[in-house]
Amino acid sequence: MEDTLVFAVNGERIELSSVDPSTTLLQFLRSHTRFKSVKLSCGEGGCGACNVLLSKFDTKLKQVEDYTVSSCLTLLCSVNGCSITTTEGLGNVKDGFHSIHQRFAGFHASQCGFCTPGMCVSLFSALVNSDKTHRPEAAFGSSKLTVLEAEKSISGNLCRCTGYRPIADVCKSFAADVDMEDLGINSFWNKETKLHKLPFYDSKQITTYPEFLRNERESTTALNYQNKTWYSPLSVEELGSLLESVSAENGMMVKLVAGNTGTGYYKETEYYNKYIDLRFIPELSTIKKAGSQIEIGATVSISKLILALKEERNDDLVSEGDIVLKKIASHLEKIASESIRNVASIGGNLVMAQRKNFPSDIATVLLAVKSKVTILTGVKKEILTLEEFLEKPALDSRNVLLSVFIPCSENIKTKLLFETYRASPRPLGNALAYLNAAFLAEICNVDNSVVINRIQLAFGSFGAKHAIRAGTVENYLVGKKLSVDLLYEAVKLLRVAISPENGTSHPAYRSSLPVSFLFDFLLPIVDADGCIHKSTCNYPRIGSRLTFDDCERTTLLSSAKQVIESSHEHYPVGQPVIKSGAAIQASGEAVFVDDIPSPLNCLHGAFIYSTKPLARVKSIKLKSEKDVNSVVTFHDIPKGGENVGAINRFGQEPLFSNELTQCAGQRIAFTVAETQKNADMAADTAMVDYDIEDLEPPILTVEQAVEKSSFFEVPSFLYPSQVGDFSKGMAESDHQIHCEEIKLPSQYYFYMETQTALAVPDEDNCMVVYSSSQAPEFAHLAISRCLNIPEHNVRMITRRVGGGFGGKVVKAMPVATACALAAYKLRCPVRTYVNRKTDMIMAGGRHPMKINYTVGFKSNGKITAVHLDILINAGMSPDVSPIIPWNMIGSFKKYNFGAFSFDFKLCKTNHSSKSAMRAPGEVQGSFIAEAVIEHIATYLSLDVGFVREMNFHNFDSLKLFYGNSAGEPLEYTLPTIWDKLMKSSNFDHRVETVNEFNKNNIWRKKGISRIPILQDVSLRPTPGKVSILQDGSVVVEVGGIELGQGLWTKVKQMTAYCLSAVQCDGTDGLLEKVRIIQADTLSMVQGGITAGSTTSEASCEAVRLCCNVLVERLVSLKEKVKQMGSVSWELLIMQAHMQSINLSASSFFVPEFTSMRYINYGAAVSEVEVNLLTGETKILQTDIMYDCGQSLNPAVDLGQIEGAFVQGIGFFMLEEYLTNSDGLVVADSTWTYKIPTIDTIPKQLNVQILNSGHHKNRVLSSKASGEPPLLLAASVHCATRAAIKEARNQLYCWKGLNGSDSFFQLDVPATMPVVKTLCGLDNVEFYLQSLLSS
Ligand SMILES: Cc1cc2nc3c(=O)[nH]c(=O)nc-3n(C[C@H](O)[C@H](O)[C@H](O)COP(=O)(O)OP(=O)(O)OC[C@H]3O[C@@H](n4cnc5c(N)ncnc54)[C@H](O)[C@@H]3O)c2cc1C
Ligand code: FES
Ligand code: FES
Repeated sequence: MEDTLVFAVNGERIELSSVDPSTTLLQFLRSHTRFKSVKLSCGEGGCGACNVLLSKFDTKLKQVEDYTVSSCLTLLCSVNGCSITTTEGLGNVKDGFHSIHQRFAGFHASQCGFCTPGMCVSLFSALVNSDKTHRPEAAFGSSKLTVLEAEKSISGNLCRCTGYRPIADVCKSFAADVDMEDLGINSFWNKETKLHKLPFYDSKQITTYPEFLRNERESTTALNYQNKTWYSPLSVEELGSLLESVSAENGMMVKLVAGNTGTGYYKETEYYNKYIDLRFIPELSTIKKAGSQIEIGATVSISKLILALKEERNDDLVSEGDIVLKKIASHLEKIASESIRNVASIGGNLVMAQRKNFPSDIATVLLAVKSKVTILTGVKKEILTLEEFLEKPALDSRNVLLSVFIPCSENIKTKLLFETYRASPRPLGNALAYLNAAFLAEICNVDNSVVINRIQLAFGSFGAKHAIRAGTVENYLVGKKLSVDLLYEAVKLLRVAISPENGTSHPAYRSSLPVSFLFDFLLPIVDADGCIHKSTCNYPRIGSRLTFDDCERTTLLSSAKQVIESSHEHYPVGQPVIKSGAAIQASGEAVFVDDIPSPLNCLHGAFIYSTKPLARVKSIKLKSEKDVNSVVTFHDIPKGGENVGAINRFGQEPLFSNELTQCAGQRIAFTVAETQKNADMAADTAMVDYDIEDLEPPILTVEQAVEKSSFFEVPSFLYPSQVGDFSKGMAESDHQIHCEEIKLPSQYYFYMETQTALAVPDEDNCMVVYSSSQAPEFAHLAISRCLNIPEHNVRMITRRVGGGFGGKVVKAMPVATACALAAYKLRCPVRTYVNRKTDMIMAGGRHPMKINYTVGFKSNGKITAVHLDILINAGMSPDVSPIIPWNMIGSFKKYNFGAFSFDFKLCKTNHSSKSAMRAPGEVQGSFIAEAVIEHIATYLSLDVGFVREMNFHNFDSLKLFYGNSAGEPLEYTLPTIWDKLMKSSNFDHRVETVNEFNKNNIWRKKGISRIPILQDVSLRPTPGKVSILQDGSVVVEVGGIELGQGLWTKVKQMTAYCLSAVQCDGTDGLLEKVRIIQADTLSMVQGGITAGSTTSEASCEAVRLCCNVLVERLVSLKEKVKQMGSVSWELLIMQAHMQSINLSASSFFVPEFTSMRYINYGAAVSEVEVNLLTGETKILQTDIMYDCGQSLNPAVDLGQIEGAFVQGIGFFMLEEYLTNSDGLVVADSTWTYKIPTIDTIPKQLNVQILNSGHHKNRVLSSKASGEPPLLLAASVHCATRAAIKEARNQLYCWKGLNGSDSFFQLDVPATMPVVKTLCGLDNVEFYLQSLLSS
């Protein structure tokens, strides 16, 4: 037994004689080591950013086990004797990068880089483990990994930037069975050079478990530590007596620990006196076959159990009992993510289900097979059925679950059927199920019929206290002959038996799922005539399931195509150059704000926010003042300073609420403590006393805002112009639709790096603030006004931002200002890294809105007039909301609507202020245009594509609608894109195939849709500065911030291109000599904001102006130097320094008014398949064509296109950013907010970047790519609508009605409940009824 904590990190020995046992591995690594690659993003096991490889020596098997864990949930004391490998341990700048790092860079798979370290570790773990398999030796430089494993290795990792396709390609590039032709663009090989140029993978390169640990810790890794605050008993007896003795001590807070992943769900707000680690008790950690059952120790991890169940029988003669075990295993594979399953124990899961009603999958699956458990109470052991266990009053911390028994049905004479189900927003887990189920039935043939001898139907996670069996339905079915009639009656009983408790979300949807699943289970053995299905004897057979369940068999993604044209005209501009800093992002060495080491005496802050929309704050009380240094509120604003947290051109927002809060989520105070954990805990548990007496009720809806005329103004120069005469247009129409309503919701940024800042007081009343900001100039202003110090006393520094998407324009400012105010008050550095929950609650996000449209059109589909009434929920302050009308109309008028008019109201409400989110307003405007078109097509029973084309602009109407932005006729590339995409996507043929599919399938319907987009963007003034140092290296500063969008890379390329105009030897290597440095608001003033897709090109142009000046100076010198012989770049620069030529130039690019705006064009085809039983939508294929002009860097632009598109999928299909009735965000975690993951993106994503040649008013003929492609994701929504339409027509028919169903609106996001509701929550019943009545 050890009493010091010893482990290794990247091969370095670490010994600790004392540590707070609640410390997580992540906290330790980030604050006590130089290994900052482990990123904190969610802190709850839901994102993979903190993944590390944990290796330990199995003394029994004499081998090293390697697996990923989420370091944010792993307690440091539990890694005693283990070795930790982070991505820095794989390689780095100094020693050379690992091939994983190199491939992430070369496949353009890292954008902001915040997710990349975790991705690298997940992939590394998969590689290490595949090498341990007994598969045939891999080819030289390759591994034994399979493509499916490669993809799945990152299925628990979130990335908000890339859209996953390039990351999947990196992973697949290591797989033994990959076809290299299937991989996407990269900088290593092309069709000619191929494999040998991929960075070499050496499976022996990294030793995950150092020798010294093996020698030191061979016998045990159990730890009894620090006067037994951490204790590892070695037997059940020892545990029993330990628990008895602890319970005798009054007030002792004890925690039993296995994997500690439970804290990802149940966040800890208390400190424990004692931790008892259960993992070293042999009985609790083994799996053994005992007679006709398998006994699983409670601390066995889910991963270990999966392996054991799969291995239980590995021969070809798979019995029915084995199938049960294998199916349990494959269900378990959908729980959480691999890094969680690797440590999450079966016992921990069941105890969470028992004690706290956790919506467990394990409980449901084990209930269906009649499992039992053993529990220890004091020293007494007791065996209970799982049902009895779940029904018991909640266990306390003295009860221990020892083991679980799964019965094995081996010698059954009859036929055994077993299936498990889960309906969840993501097929591969890291998403709790809306409902899970597992069914076991024993059937036999009697008189040519199927009779059910025994049936067990278990359901869970649907909003009941715990998993339950549907006893009434089971009793009804047993002993009966299976028929449609029987199924129909059973389904009716099931509706009553399984219903969610009050307060559960989506109750009607959840109630419909049991019916779907039972139907799916029994249908294969009942055919339409109620007889036994021909293939009953083969049941369960592959493909028999109606619900989607193929993640095990097929790869998640099929091959994707990228078509780009790189241009040599402005070399190296136009080349797919690797993103600047990509390799150090992968190796974890890239420094984000929270990676900057804390200065001496640095304190940490956390926000207390209001939970009431409109209330007086009477008092704020902390649960304990012990660990808190200060609570900063508006009272601390120095004399003369303003209560301002954010400023932009439309107004400002207070830093803290004064006496009166204006929205739930508003900042009230900032707790400051010595650690982030203490600050967070203090803020989280603070009690705020509110008073609402005599206050008006808050304005929480746009309708209430209208009633009270509570609006913000839209400045006239930003109010879009109407076109034509609406009344006249309506008068010309043959048909009209009036006042149709659409509601569009909000969306959260989900940048992987949450808001963060570090403020350091400097001499003479100055403040240096490091901030993850898209608009440091404005944060600078806010700080100076708040602190009442001159602007030159503030310096804002931003090097890189871990994802922004608009959320770090205005919303980053109060975070920086709060740190600055606290630092000013306390006279010491103060930093904060806002936790995910607080970030989600305070962020604001995209603007929700309500739209009513009225449209007139001819019988051929030609629109003659449209009117929109739009109510935008702007929240409590104007933020950037006044730009929304302009943006919306800019993308709405992509069709020639004849005449159109609109009325916008920017509603001031008691919600958090809504801010710019990628394509703000544009995505909604573009979507509304499609909704109008679709409505007309349905109304007239016309093909929707035909109606689209009917309303396309010609250049004249484009000019009329867009004015100067339309540019020259040749620049209107949409018609070309539209036609080209139709051919390249094989559209017409696929429409036919989809129709055919729909005719032949009842429970799955497909839809396909092609949509165009137009987005009007404009350039803003931007500064730049280029300086050449003595050795010829070049340093560049620009106003634009690197957010992951590749701005630095494009600027580097531009600098190299422009300086090469000097035309001397060595300028072809200039790209390597250029470094872009962090933005510093005192070094580069008027930096502006990085937003609106055009900052990269504007920064490039600013740099071009600087380079032109430098080139002019250098060229005249070159002429003189040339007389001495050939002139190299280095020589020329040396001479310039000697001759005191100014080698620094700065510029301020101000775009010409007449050409500062232009339109971006693109189109997409998406094909989806909808499951009518669950409402799940699979995106089968998307083809995108996008005009980048002459792309400055096609690899970067491709990344922007794919990333934006996938973020759009999130908006249209997945992300529900819900609030409660007070407007407080309740989707405040990775548990409740689901961004796309690798298993929810298009299975096939083909992108073609159109190089549309010369655009004389654009920067080197280039066009923007950051935001417009997000609009294309509406194609997925439209395709889903098409599939649902098919489903509804079929349902219509089952209901005995003639014709086809009427128009319907499909909500955004079209989540599973939304889709299923439209397809018919009771479609199974109607189907069965139709069979019965036919
Ligand atoms: C991101 C994420 C996603 C998840 N998704 C799913 C999902 O889709 N479906 C699902 O079913 N589960 C899911 N889980 C839950 C997961 O399975 C559990 O967190 C895990 O199994 C708990 O095991 P543990 O060893 O980490 O328990 P711990 O966190 O160590 O313990 C959990 C609780 O149980 C107590 N405890 C632990 N072991 C025992 C024991 N033997 N006897 C008595 N008390 C004990 C602990 O004191 C603690 O209170 C998810 C978890 C995470 C973090
Ligand atoms: S930070 Fe650990 S999983 Fe997200
Ligand atoms: S690169 Fe993945 S989150 Fe930014």
